[in-house]
Amino acid sequence: KPIRIKKICCIGAGYVGGPTSAVIASKNPDIQVTVVDYNRERIEAWQTDDLPIYEPGLLDVVRAARDAKSKRTPNLFFSTDVDRCIAEADLILLSVNTPTKSLGRGAGHASELSYLESAVRKIGEVAESNKIIVEKSTVPCRAADTLRDVLAATAKPGIHFEILSNPEFLAEGTAIPNLLNPDRILIGSLKTPRGLQAAQALADVYGAWVDHDRIITINLYSSELAKLAANALLAQRISSVNALSAMCESVGADIDEVSYAIGLDKRIGSRMLKASVGFGGSCFRKDILSLAYIAESLHLFEVADYWRSIVEINEYQKDRFTRRIVRCLYNSLSGKTLAVWGFAYKKDTGDTRETAAISVVDNVLTEGANVRIYDPLVKETQIRQELKSTTSRLGCAEKQLVVCDSAYEACTGADAVIILTEWDEFSNRSEVVRRDSGHGKKTKARSERKVDWARAAEVMRRPMFVFDGRNIVDAGALEELGFRVECIGKA
Ligand code: UDX
Ligand code: UDX
Ligand code: ADP
Repeated sequence: KPIRIKKICCIGAGYVGGPTSAVIASKNPDIQVTVVDYNRERIEAWQTDDLPIYEPGLLDVVRAARDAKSKRTPNLFFSTDVDRCIAEADLILLSVNTPTKSLGRGAGHASELSYLESAVRKIGEVAESNKIIVEKSTVPCRAADTLRDVLAATAKPGIHFEILSNPEFLAEGTAIPNLLNPDRILIGSLKTPRGLQAAQALADVYGAWVDHDRIITINLYSSELAKLAANALLAQRISSVNALSAMCESVGADIDEVSYAIGLDKRIGSRMLKASVGFGGSCFRKDILSLAYIAESLHLFEVADYWRSIVEINEYQKDRFTRRIVRCLYNSLSGKTLAVWGFAYKKDTGDTRETAAISVVDNVLTEGANVRIYDPLVKETQIRQELKSTTSRLGCAEKQLVVCDSAYEACTGADAVIILTEWDEFSNRSEVVRRDSGHGKKTKARSERKVDWARAAEVMRRPMFVFDGRNIVDAGALEELGFRVECIGKA
């Protein structure tokens, strides 16, 4: 008979677990959803209106399901009591981090599964009843076998665990619309009666707001691989366009026009074809390297090389951008000042994982530049920490770096503005800036304001350059103000 889910426990209160659980709870008032994490600070933040992650629209969804103030009974909870919540749940979402391994075999390439393993050991230890366990985090192929093996060795006899793969496809900055209106929900299961029954139970949870024809049930291992493959193909499109952008700069073509023309082919489609200083974020690089590592471990060396080349082009694009800055500034950055606008890996997020800004800032610091960074959402401590943990030079270049509270402050005495994140406020084009209902007042006020480029020009050194790593400015208008403008993929 069908299983009806009453209690869900989500392990991991991060970018995936938090928003996903909030949407599931808000759409299923009869299901109690508890998000657990051993990070107490994070859990406490989820209980306030100052959420630990920034995501437009998230706070409204969280509040509706979490707060007794709303008309309905609260059904979204955040807790550090991992054991109790696991014990009570019928269905457990695994949303822990799976970063790239930093030690031992596969370091720098393979996925680190230790967080997942430890969460599953915990489940084995404390479970007193049958559980459906759902892989939400991106995992290597056949991770489900590993989890099953750990459970078989740690669980009490007579308890049945069914493992599902249900990868999350949300993109940061648009998590809430992506979750509310997904292209598809993938549910992978074993094709056994129990596997299919568990898949149906999870499909029913999504069925509360997603059309049935968008909920796809497939083989467990196809589902695991489809997640890695989707990210690899998306990143591949960006690397393809970025490779073309290098050609455009030499042949006098314009990459925006080329992308537009290509995207009109329905077989290709127009999205994810925007040239940039390089993709960032916690997923693309990590997932491609994981895919390549898997291929290599299967002795498919040509396949591994193919996937890795996507990451290599991305590294090349970041370096190429820096080289252009150096070239335009008369081959020396020594004693020059650069205003860096934007540090997050894309707009509408405060996330800086793998952001192209890390490489670019590191490179220009190495060239001896003074760097003044402004990002509307990312805090100074985070910028410094990110640079310190990733770059070679920050130890000795600390003095060269200033983090500013405004775009104008960053421009003071600067020779160039370098745009690294496509925040609306940096563009001098006249499209409407979206009003933001997702976060604190500070951000709300900021996202409505656009930079006055004429004012920025007043405080800069001559000649003034703009290096637009996101192609968001109208170069002609800036040239009228006296700027020399360099865009990606434009001669
Ligand atoms: C292609 C382009 O589609 C067309 O726009 C351009 O003008 C000329 O080149 P064509 O070579 O005639 O057209 O056929 P196409 O349908 O694109 O197939 C090319 C090859 O790819 C064929 O061998 C086909 O079997 C193969 N193919 C196509 C696949 O292996 N998988 C696919 O999903 C699609
Ligand atoms: C990605 C996938 O889109 C999502 O489906 C998956 O679940 C997680 O990984 P995310 O990394 O949050 O999401 O953002 P995405 O919008 O895909 O952008 C990734 C990076 O590519 C960003 O640095 C972005 O600026 C860059 N990008 C994106 C481009 O350079 N050009 C584009 O056309 C699109
Ligand atoms: P993602 O982007 O995949 O959501 P995050 O790093 O934002 O990744 O979030 C993962 C969360 O999972 C972190 O807050 C981390 O503390 C938590 N976590 C990792 N392992 C465990 C565990 N065994 N039990 C509880 N929480 C865990």
